[in-house]
Amino acid sequence: MSERLDLAGKRLVLGLSGGIACYKAAELLRLLVKAGAEVRVVMTEAARQFITPVTMQALSGQPVLSDQWDAGQPNNMAHINLTREADAVVVAPASADLIAKLAQGRADELLSLLCLARPIADCPLLLAPAMNREMWAHPATQRNLAQVRDDGAIVLGPGNGDQACGETGDGRMLEAEELFEDIVSALSPKPLAGERVLITAGPTFEAIDPVRGLTNRSSGKMGFALARAAREAGAQVTLVAGPVHLPTPRGVTRIDVQSAEQMLDAVLPLAATHGLFIATAAVADWRPAKLADHKIKKDGKKVPPGVELSENADILATVAALPRPPFCVGFAAESEQLARHAREKLVRKKLPLVVGNLGPATFGRDDNALLLVDAQGERPLPPDGGTADKLTLARQLVAEIARRRATDAA
Ligand code: CTP
Repeated sequence: MSERLDLAGKRLVLGLSGGIACYKAAELLRLLVKAGAEVRVVMTEAARQFITPVTMQALSGQPVLSDQWDAGQPNNMAHINLTREADAVVVAPASADLIAKLAQGRADELLSLLCLARPIADCPLLLAPAMNREMWAHPATQRNLAQVRDDGAIVLGPGNGDQACGETGDGRMLEAEELFEDIVSALSPKPLAGERVLITAGPTFEAIDPVRGLTNRSSGKMGFALARAAREAGAQVTLVAGPVHLPTPRGVTRIDVQSAEQMLDAVLPLAATHGLFIATAAVADWRPAKLADHKIKKDGKKVPPGVELSENADILATVAALPRPPFCVGFAAESEQLARHAREKLVRKKLPLVVGNLGPATFGRDDNALLLVDAQGERPLPPDGGTADKLTLARQLVAEIARRRATDAA
């Protein structure tokens, strides 16, 4: 599978101010470069006390800048050159002192100078605060943060947990992977801004007794990728997940459930407040008619116990039949005759769009191929009819759904 380049063609300035979290900036830089970004690193004098420019130069493949008086720049204006070329300035770590300077518009060294000199409308400023919990909670820091937010900066985190000083609380810098996800998201187009999206994902587990149950091989990856893509596209996302071992995408509200009945109970009250419902979950069609209180034991007669089944409600069809339903997107996991079965679901469940895929070929895998089926016809995703990783497919599908929503609204 080809490497996905989430930041291909993007030019970033990565600024480091002083803080122990500078060590995480090296890993962040590696992720940014691996994703195709061209990164220029700027370090304050304090940052250079924590890690050396040699590391950042090696990882970015470019000399590190620190000095506003650096004669290496032909026009001697590093702060202008850097920001006119950049798609964003990311400061990680952003110290309490740097945030205070930004709040006041001070510019006495290269990093704060270039933040002030950047074209606000074209070059977003992303700050990843990193500091001791008392410094974070101090009214001066909170005042400064409110000010920089008001001035348009996007504040990423901070996280919560053990701190280098031995204390525990708010203020630690987000991990490199988390920052990376937030940066990709901040630089993504926002065709679903203002939209609320409800997604079901994963299998359901229908208990037979306290230790056994009926389930299926859905991994939840497609639904989780869609939740991430919808959030990147600006939506507020609620993800109702069956039992899966996947991390929650950044900024997504997750509700964990086990059974189809619990999934329905979680989804129904939310359906009215969400404009878009995407049902990727592989919901078990049947559940054991009764749950045994204790583990069913072998009775010595070598006769297996019969398990009587009851049919589960169809969550998607129930939502689609509401008086004012959200825009409902169904998934069809089939083993053959994909287009025919997907269309049959489109009609039976009264949906504007069904996304078909071949179940056995996709469960648990990272790449997939989709077939979009609606009243007009069919078309493949990716559009070239090949395969793509699930996040790429999720982004294409979210863009497609956003286009349809915009057409509906027009
Ligand atoms: N679905 C649902 N609730 C169910 C069953 C299915 O919400 N009880 C949703 C799935 O999330 C998916 C779509 O309906 O979006 C299609 O599910 P699928 O299991 O493929 O279809 P079924 O309607 O169960 O038909 P069949 O089992 O005959 O393929």
